[in-house]
Amino acid sequence: MHVGILTGGGDCPGLNAVIRAVTLALVNEAGARVTGIERGFEGLLTRRTRPLDVHAVEGLLAQGGTVLGTHNRCNPFHDAAAGGADRSAQAMATVRELGLDALVAIGGDGTMTIANRFSALGLPVVGVPKTIDNDLMHNDRSFGFDSAVAVVAEALDRLETTARSHRRVMIAETMGRYAGWIALEGGIAGGADVILLPELPVDIDAVAEHCRERERSQGYTLICIGEGVPLQGGLVVREHIAESPDPLRLGGVGVLLQHELSRRLSTEVRSTVLGHVQRGGSPTAFDRVLATRFGYQAAQLVRRGEFGRMVALQCDRIDSVPIGDVADRSRTVPLDHPLLATVRGIGVMVGT
Ligand code: F6P
Repeated sequence: MHVGILTGGGDCPGLNAVIRAVTLALVNEAGARVTGIERGFEGLLTRRTRPLDVHAVEGLLAQGGTVLGTHNRCNPFHDAAAGGADRSAQAMATVRELGLDALVAIGGDGTMTIANRFSALGLPVVGVPKTIDNDLMHNDRSFGFDSAVAVVAEALDRLETTARSHRRVMIAETMGRYAGWIALEGGIAGGADVILLPELPVDIDAVAEHCRERERSQGYTLICIGEGVPLQGGLVVREHIAESPDPLRLGGVGVLLQHELSRRLSTEVRSTVLGHVQRGGSPTAFDRVLATRFGYQAAQLVRRGEFGRMVALQCDRIDSVPIGDVADRSRTVPLDHPLLATVRGIGVMVGT
């Protein structure tokens, strides 16, 4: 059996741990040959590959990023580098020429959308969910999320010391796109006093009033805001990348909130964009375990010939779902999520 592995979309802590687990499981349990496809689906167009074996994956468990490289702008069905041409047939030809019996695609919704289209063309593909945003459908937790939350928590701990010492309002802006998972769990773990999510409406006057009350009681306020919060009715967009499957690069809502609060408060207000720091570095122990479970399950799906499916964590069981059920969809924080009641119950302002 010859199996290809690729990583697509943004990098994420735990990608290497999945590559390692898929490879080791396939080599140990099936004597398979494994080939890494470089830079996501682009590698199927450029034919850039590398052999993966027990030695090649040594030391990968704790390494951040992806040794295979990745790409979040290459879609063989609409190749921007070739004027939007459909080069999927060329990618399928590469699969045949390499003699791949299966492809394991590790990535987020963009990668799953592309994988689903290849699956429809007859490519035996298995998906593994990756995203620090934790926003893939039918999957309770993606690896990388816990690592990102840990970074947000540490950042808030650090911002809190300045907030307390200077009696300031300190704002941390997190990633997460249109889902508030990172802001919510990071905000809780870092002890934020106000947590603002894309899923909930935000009234800036109400946030300002909360900060005034806190100034009188505690003297300072720590705010955690997700990058996808439509603060004044619209998203704050840093960049527009037409050729990307996800063309809007969000960022800057924290600064906007800083300005709006500064106009309303006598307290000093500062903001920090946590950005790609949340995506970098070594995965947490939780993410290393989850990535290993996902990788092992992907290898089982390949061995059983269960293609067109994505590995998924559901109620702490590793299962799988049709990739088509995941493609083009995203999982936001439900308004009745128990964590919202929990934080409100301890006096944290969540939305307004
Ligand atoms: O999907 C993960 C994510 O980190 C988002 O939270 C963020 O908006 C986006 O990627 C940033 O992507 P890029 O690295 O292309 O700026």
